[in-house]
Amino acid sequence: MKIISVVGARPNFMKIAPLHFEFQKFSNSNVNHLICHTGQHYDEQMSKVFFDEFELPVPDFYLGVGSGSHAEQTAKIMIEFEKVLLNEKPDLVIVVGDVNSTIACSLTAVKLGVKVVHIEAGLRSFDRTMPEEINRILTDAISDFLFVTEKSGIQNLLKEGIDKDKIFFVGNVMIDSLVKFMPIIQTSNILYNLQLDRSDYCVVTLHRPSNVDNVISLKRLVDLINEVSKIKKVIFPIHPRTKNNLERFNLFYSLNHNTIISEPLGYNDFVSLIKDSALVLTDSGGIQEETTYLGVPCITLRNTTERPVTIEVGTNYLVGDNLDLAYELAEKVLKGDYKKGQVPELWDGKASERIVKTLMEKLTIYNL
Ligand code: UD1
Repeated sequence: MKIISVVGARPNFMKIAPLHFEFQKFSNSNVNHLICHTGQHYDEQMSKVFFDEFELPVPDFYLGVGSGSHAEQTAKIMIEFEKVLLNEKPDLVIVVGDVNSTIACSLTAVKLGVKVVHIEAGLRSFDRTMPEEINRILTDAISDFLFVTEKSGIQNLLKEGIDKDKIFFVGNVMIDSLVKFMPIIQTSNILYNLQLDRSDYCVVTLHRPSNVDNVISLKRLVDLINEVSKIKKVIFPIHPRTKNNLERFNLFYSLNHNTIISEPLGYNDFVSLIKDSALVLTDSGGIQEETTYLGVPCITLRNTTERPVTIEVGTNYLVGDNLDLAYELAEKVLKGDYKKGQVPELWDGKASERIVKTLMEKLTIYNL
């Protein structure tokens, strides 16, 4: 059986790594798991570092599409991925998450009659201005196997008319990576290198177009970071999109001296940094889940979240664009007053095991 898994952007690598290692266990029984990197993210710090850290093999296919408008990026991926599929004739294509590579490759596969597996299916922010929301809805609509991280995903898919037999609640592959790499994460020197004491700093990450692509919202967020940094030091690893915009809007030098700006960090250093932080402020999707697993308070600087379990069960707070509320909450959290949270159901490091087991059983039925 030939399977091609797709990675493209930073949040994909930690989701495919545990699956790759799970599939390796079946490499003697006619399972050939290949990796296709679309090249959506291409910088050393946005891509290559993760292959090294996760000990992933060099991708079997590299499409090298790079940046571009949504249409350009999606179309280029489709054109290049179609060539791979026509040459390789895989039995299954696996896509993860909600980035442009996810929809581009699933759409290409389904039109060639190749079965599609979507991992992290069913998440919905109900905000169709987010490019990721469109990618999620469309990918789920055309996938054959939908693996869900939290129960809200099952309800969302059923409401959209997806056949219940295609939906599997298995937990969170990103947490599999966190669990597997924790011994290495614990050896990171990042706190020493940045001269930080445990629990004595906050971490900020920002990259959503709605937050960073316009000067007014980015300026408001810079003001918030400056206010928070008066209470505790802030570490701000900057995404390329955000860095470009801070420079373009002349905001880069408005960040005060109690904020340490760094390049995007590798996985082990980044998780080590958030694990020992007092508070994380973010607009990322995955970091809401990682902080919940680690029991670290998280303030999400967005109007919606597609990951409600992190609020209902975990340590996440959603503040929307009410940055006064964000500041009040940050003050409270930094005084030690915050919800402690619990680890959501099935976030136990075994999601990839469940996924591969399910696929093996189902695919035997199809004689693949
Ligand atoms: C993408 C995903 C988003 C994900 C994020 C994680 C989509 C629609 N968005 O957003 O869901 O949370 O990745 O990072 O797929 N750039 C570089 N080097 C790189 C990659 C990007 O400099 O290696 C710069 C380019 O100027 C590019 C910009 O970042 O134009 C945005 O990159 P892009 O992949 O289009 O979207 P992200 O904002 O990274």
